[in-house]
Amino acid sequence: MRGGVGPALIYAMLNVTQALQQRRSIRAYRPDPVPDALIRELIELAARAPSNCNIQPWHIAVASGDSVRRLRSALQQYLQSGAAPTPGFAAATTQLQAHHRERQVDCAQRYYQALGIERSDRAARQGVAQRNWAFFDAPHVAFISMPSTMNQSNALDVGMFVQSLMLLMTERGLGSIAQGALAQYPQPIFAALDIPEGNAILCGLSFGYPKAQAQINALHMPRAELDQYCSFAS
Ligand SMILES: Cc1cc2nc3c(=O)[nH]c(=O)nc-3n(C[C@H](O)[C@H](O)[C@H](O)COP(=O)(O)O)c2cc1C
Repeated sequence: MRGGVGPALIYAMLNVTQALQQRRSIRAYRPDPVPDALIRELIELAARAPSNCNIQPWHIAVASGDSVRRLRSALQQYLQSGAAPTPGFAAATTQLQAHHRERQVDCAQRYYQALGIERSDRAARQGVAQRNWAFFDAPHVAFISMPSTMNQSNALDVGMFVQSLMLLMTERGLGSIAQGALAQYPQPIFAALDIPEGNAILCGLSFGYPKAQAQINALHMPRAELDQYCSFAS
């Protein structure tokens, strides 16, 4: 629905605390599109995020309608061709260690359990991973990029922009999911969308109205206890 009284207007305004508590990664969407004006409004608001020297290194390329459908099938074909991943930013060179690795495993276990998939069922797990490149059937996908010459401090700026956008979406009754997977095969994305030359993709962001009944959207990922990631001195 474009403009007028659409689902976007039926929401209870959340405060920041409530938005943080309610946001979760959404992996099943209704097909109805989000009004263009709302998407633009939220992106402009998210760009209030702070950044080092106010350089605002983020770029966001949003695909909707036919554009998202074409890109979905281009990416599926690209993957089926057996093309190797060519991410613009190098992957970590070492495996996660200790509690970080434990959390990664725990996350995967919860995810597969929510879908009723055995961890030993490799084919099913691969099928689930493929859903990333179908954008979990969301009616919109955005690609977040910054110049490939930039470093982790700029990536921090972009992360603040992305979280601001996800919280705003939560506030307006939209669901979203950040997807590192969507940085793996940039070639069809650059061919389809207007992304500044020299930029590299940090992540994708699928978004739209959540499918309320979908079991996967009820998945609640826990967080570590405060003492595990925070220290105080006085
Ligand atoms: C930068 C980033 C990249 C992510 N990449 C993926 C992804 O490729 N596929 C996916 O299903 N989830 C992805 N996620 C979602 C995380 O799995 C999710 O945020 C985490 O498990 C915590 O769950 P919650 O977002 O529901 O609180 C990503 C999240 C972030 C912040």
